[in-house]
Amino acid sequence: MAVNLSGRNLISMRDLSGTEILAIVALAEKLKANREATEREAPLKNKTLVMIFQKPSLRTRVSFEAGTTRLGGHAIYLAPADIKLGQRETTEDIAIVVSRYADIIMARVFGHDIVEDLGKYAGVPVINGLSDFEHPCQILADFLAIYERRGRLDGMSGCYIGDGNNVANSLMFGAARVGMNFTVAAPPGFEPKPEVVGEAQKMARETGVTIRVTNDPAEGARGADWLYTDVWASMGQEGEAEARKAKFQGFQINAELMKHAKPDAIILHCLPAHYGEEIDYETSRAPNSAIFDQAENRMHAQNALMVMLAG
Ligand code: CP
Ligand code: NVA
Repeated sequence: MAVNLSGRNLISMRDLSGTEILAIVALAEKLKANREATEREAPLKNKTLVMIFQKPSLRTRVSFEAGTTRLGGHAIYLAPADIKLGQRETTEDIAIVVSRYADIIMARVFGHDIVEDLGKYAGVPVINGLSDFEHPCQILADFLAIYERRGRLDGMSGCYIGDGNNVANSLMFGAARVGMNFTVAAPPGFEPKPEVVGEAQKMARETGVTIRVTNDPAEGARGADWLYTDVWASMGQEGEAEARKAKFQGFQINAELMKHAKPDAIILHCLPAHYGEEIDYETSRAPNSAIFDQAENRMHAQNALMVMLAG
C-alpha cells in the first residue's frame, strides 16, 4: 500500500506506522544519495517553513534551515525572544496566523501540549522539533543511520543507557512500530514513566517485539545491536545537572559497557554530548560510532518528512 502523509503532522512517533517510518527512511536515503537531482526538482519550491524555538539548538535549526534550502524552499527562524510563545499571544492564534503565511511549521518547545496545540490549530503540517516528552525527528535520523549500516530495522535489539527522557520515549515508540526489541537502562527514579512504557509495550505486541526497562546497564546492553545515550540533564533541567551526576554514575557508554553488546554494536548519541558523563570521548570516536551520521541524517530524514507532508 502506497504511503501518503500529505497534510499530516508529526507530533509523536506514535503518529507513524512502521510502514510510514520505513517509507520516510527510504526517501531520506534517496534524497541523501541524489543531492543534484533533489536540488533540480526542488520539491519545496516557493514553500516556506517557519521554525519556532523555545529552547536552544544547533542540529535542529541548521538541519531544517539548510535542508529547506536544498529542497528549493525558504526557512524562517523564530528565536525564543521573537514571538515569546505562550506569553505574547495564545498558541492557538500563533498557529492560525503562521498558517496564513507558511506551508510547514516546526516547533521546539517545553511542554508537549504546546506542540500538540500547534498541530490542533494550524492549517498546515506541524513537526515536533523536540518537546519535553518526545523528539521524533531525531529518531527518524537515527533509524536512517542504523538502516545504512545494517540494511534493516526489524529484528534488531537496541538499548538506551541513561535518562528516561524525550529521546528515550520516542525510541520506545519508534522501536515498537518498526519491530525492534528495545531496552531502556536508567537509574532508579529516572526510568521513563510506566504509562509511557505500557503504551509502547502495547504497540510492541502488534509487531511481536519486547520493550523493557532495567536499572542495570550491563544487563540492558547484553547482546544489543546498538547502544544509544543522551545527556543526563536535558534542556530545562540545568538546575538538576550536578545532583544527577552522582545518580547516573555507571550509566556511561564506554569500552567496558560495549563489551556486553554485540562486538560490532553501533554507538549512537543524539548530541550535544557531555564527554566523560554519558559517553567517553574515545568511545564516541570508535569506528562503529554513528554519532555524526545521525547528526547529518537529521537533514535527510527531515527533508524526506517535509516532502511527504507538504511537497
Ligand atoms: N540532537 C538535537 O536535537 O540537537 P540540537 O539540540 O542541537 O538541535
Ligand atoms: N534530551 C535532550 C535532547 C537534546 C537533543 C534535551 O531535551 O535536552
